[in-house]
Amino acid sequence: MKLSMVANHARWPRENDIIFNLSERAQSAEKKFGKDEVINATIGALMDDDGKLITMKTVYDELKSLPNAEISAYASIAGQDDYKEAVKKVCFQGNDPEGYMRVVASPGGSGAIKLAMWNYTNPGDVILTSDWYWSPYGTIGEEAGRSVANYRLFNEQGKFNIESFKEKFKDIIDKQGNIFTIINSPGHNPTGYSVSDSEWDEILDFAKDVAKDESKKIVLFIDVAYIDFVKNDVESRKFFKKFGNLPANILTIVGFSMSKGFTAYGMRMGAAIGISSSEDIIEEFYFSLMHSCRANWSNCNRGAMAILSSLVSDKEKYDEYKNEKDKYKDMLVKRAEAFVEGAKDANLEILPYRDGFFVSIPCENPRQVCEELTKENIYLVPLKMGLRFAVCAVSEEKCSKAPKIIKEVLDRI
Ligand SMILES: Cc1ncc(COP(=O)(O)O)c(C=O)c1O
Repeated sequence: MKLSMVANHARWPRENDIIFNLSERAQSAEKKFGKDEVINATIGALMDDDGKLITMKTVYDELKSLPNAEISAYASIAGQDDYKEAVKKVCFQGNDPEGYMRVVASPGGSGAIKLAMWNYTNPGDVILTSDWYWSPYGTIGEEAGRSVANYRLFNEQGKFNIESFKEKFKDIIDKQGNIFTIINSPGHNPTGYSVSDSEWDEILDFAKDVAKDESKKIVLFIDVAYIDFVKNDVESRKFFKKFGNLPANILTIVGFSMSKGFTAYGMRMGAAIGISSSEDIIEEFYFSLMHSCRANWSNCNRGAMAILSSLVSDKEKYDEYKNEKDKYKDMLVKRAEAFVEGAKDANLEILPYRDGFFVSIPCENPRQVCEELTKENIYLVPLKMGLRFAVCAVSEEKCSKAPKIIKEVLDRI
C-alpha cells in the first residue's frame, strides 16, 4: 500500500477545485481568442463588463485611511464591540427580531457556518439543507464528521417545497432529537431563489409545532451572504422580524458576510448572529462560539472590522457606500433579467430566479455539458444536478446571448 502520512480523518480525494480550474481555462481562452469571444460565467464575484474584479471605492478608501495600528493590532476574540454593533445595523437595518441577540465575528460567512455547525451538531449528525446547495456546507460538515441530507428545494410550481422540507426535517429530528438546518436566502447560491415571507411563515409554523416537544432542539442557520444584492433592500429584510419570540428550543443563527456586500472577499470578515428568546441560551451561544474562535483562528481581521464600524457610524459615508453598492446592484439586476429573458426566448429551462449572483440550469450529465460548452467558449460550473451561470461576472450583452448557445449545446448532446 502507498505510504500516507496524514491521519485517517484527513484523507481526501486529491482534487483541485473545479471552479478555479475552469476559470483558469476560461482565462487562457480569453488570451487566445480575445475577451469578446469568451463567456466566463464561473466566478462568484462581481466583475465589470471587461471581466475585471469590482472593488468598492468607498470600502477601500476607508481601509487606506485607517491608522496602521488599527489594522495591525490584535482584535478581541469575538470581535470588536463596535463591529458587533455595526453588523447588527447593516444586517437587519431596523428589522431586528425581538429577543436576545449576540454577535461573534468570523472569517467570512464560511467562518460563521463553521462556528455554528461545530457547536450545534454532534459527531455523526446529519445536517439538513436543500438539494441545490453551496457545496462547502458539505465540506465543512464532512471535515468535522457530520454529513448533509437534502430536501427538494422546489415543488411542481417552482416554489419552496415545504412538504419535502417537513418530511426530511421530521425524519432527522425523530432520529437525532436535534436538527441543524441551513437555509440560504435571499439570493440562494446556486439558484437565485429567495424564500418568500409567506414561505418563511410556513417554515416557522412547522418548526414551532415540532418544538412543542421540549426535548427537541432546533437550530435554523440563515445564510444571508447575498442579502445586499437583493432587488429591494428594505423588503428583503422584513423576514428577520419573524425570528423574534420563538420558543427557547428554537435557536436562530444568521450567517453574515462582508464578502459580497462590501466586495471584501479576500479580507475574510463575517459574523454569526445568535437570536433567542432565552438570555441563557444566547450567553451559551456566545461563549461556545468564542471558544471555537480561540481554538481555530484566534481573532479576525481588525482592519476589515474597522471599515464596517467606520462606514456605519458616519451617515454621509454610509450613504455614499450605499449609493455605490446600489449602482452595482442595478447592474446585476439588469444582467440577471437579460439572462432570464434570453432563456425564455431560447426555450431554455432554468430554475426560478429571484435575486443574487447566480442562475441555475437543470440538466443531465453536467460535467459533459460543461466540457461541450467550452468548445463554444462558454465556461460554466457543473453541479450535481445542473449548471451554474454566474450573472455577477458576465456583461449584460453576454448574459442575453448565452442562453441560446447553452440550449443548442444541450439539444445536441
Ligand atoms: C451560499 C454562500 N454562503 C456563504 C458564503 C460565504 O462566503 P465568505 O466565506 O467568502 O464570506 C458564500 C460565498 O461564496 C456563499 O456562496
